[in-house]
Amino acid sequence: MDRIVVRGGACLRGEVAASGSKNSALALMCAALLAPGESVLRNVPRLRDIDAMCELLRALGARADWTGEHEITIDGATISSPEAPYELVRKMRASFMVLGPLLARFGTARVSEPGGCAIGVRPIDQHLKGLRALGAKVRLDHGVVEATSDELRGGRVAFDMCTVNGTQNVMMAAVLTPGETVLENAAREPEVMELAEVLNRMGADVRGAGGDRITIRGVETLRGIEHSVSGDRIEAGTLLCTGLVTRGDVTVTAIDTSTLESTLDKLASMGAELTIEPERVRAESPPTLREVEAVTAPFPGFPTDMQAQLMALACTVEGSSVITERVFENRFMHVPELQRMGADISLAGRAAHVRGVARLSGAPVMATDLRASAGLIVAALAAEGDTTVNRVYHIDRGYERIEEKLRGLGAEIRREG
Ligand code: EPU
Repeated sequence: MDRIVVRGGACLRGEVAASGSKNSALALMCAALLAPGESVLRNVPRLRDIDAMCELLRALGARADWTGEHEITIDGATISSPEAPYELVRKMRASFMVLGPLLARFGTARVSEPGGCAIGVRPIDQHLKGLRALGAKVRLDHGVVEATSDELRGGRVAFDMCTVNGTQNVMMAAVLTPGETVLENAAREPEVMELAEVLNRMGADVRGAGGDRITIRGVETLRGIEHSVSGDRIEAGTLLCTGLVTRGDVTVTAIDTSTLESTLDKLASMGAELTIEPERVRAESPPTLREVEAVTAPFPGFPTDMQAQLMALACTVEGSSVITERVFENRFMHVPELQRMGADISLAGRAAHVRGVARLSGAPVMATDLRASAGLIVAALAAEGDTTVNRVYHIDRGYERIEEKLRGLGAEIRREG
């Protein structure tokens, strides 16, 4: 199994382009199922999760192929079986987002329950609540969600909490559902906005995305489109942390910096000197950085997907930081691994108290999920000696050519088979 070995201490400098957003691309791939024709997505990152989604779309009978280095062509005309099997859904929770499109197009869909994952229980009740509000009959049977409807119709959905994929799933069902659907307490993430924009270009009528109330008027059919996926705001934020943790000077390009505000605010409060342009951001580090207080929250709050990376950075600054996780109930698995590297962190409920240490030390560590592993790599870059990050398949789910990108900035990092 692959490992990544990082020799800490090199100061990272230079410019690096963000890849396309994994989470946007995954939702857009599901949206392509809504049209009985070809859609072409460009700037799609080469990642395990994207391959997993291709595999799932093919299992449904759709065509889903890489047609260029970063281009995927999907054709939903040939879907033969609106049924997503457990082996494929289990690999990646985002698979559950095929439910809405399949139900809307075929009036029936069977998708395995995704189950829990390393960062928490992650229920799907809000997805199901939304589909029921559109008139779907939803049954849970032996771990399979079966949704059927003789006739979907628009409805009002008030989500109990902000859910990104839940909002996206119900939005995708509603675009082909006759009448008006209103989503209240909708997620406001940029990935929700991008999905709405693309759906509208496919012929849908979605208004208000980016706010907490989204109104959708159903249309009869949608057509395939071509679209270039936006830059990945989480990868961009991670790359900025890798520069800062080495007290370096890193510029990330190909990213809409308006989607990065809460992350940039935190980095600035730590003393990073930022130069922000619409599609690039430079983060220069002074010799020392300060402590930070951060609480994760739905967009536009500080993203849970940046929590581990910020914590790794906080381990290396002067003073005591407090990082509170409010989105997922169990997203601190990186803490024991950071402690193995000499970090001084204590957990009190949902808060992590982090006291900066003079030097982290390289150690063998275990990646437990995607963002936790990104946090470990951030820490490893600043640690004395070698850190071996095991189970790097987690990082390959969400970071394209991570070691190549970091090497380009001057990191000493290699992959071992
Ligand atoms: N929740 C429920 N019921 C639901 C849905 C969600 O209780 O039906 C809860 C979750 O358990 C969680 C909270 O609501 O406590 C928010 O979860 P959300 O549904 O927003 O998460 P998601 O849509 O499943 C997406 C990203 C995650 C990211 C979260 C939060 C994708 C494919 N995944 O997940 O990304 O952490 O939003 O921003 O878009 C990652 O990229 O590493 C990753 C985990």
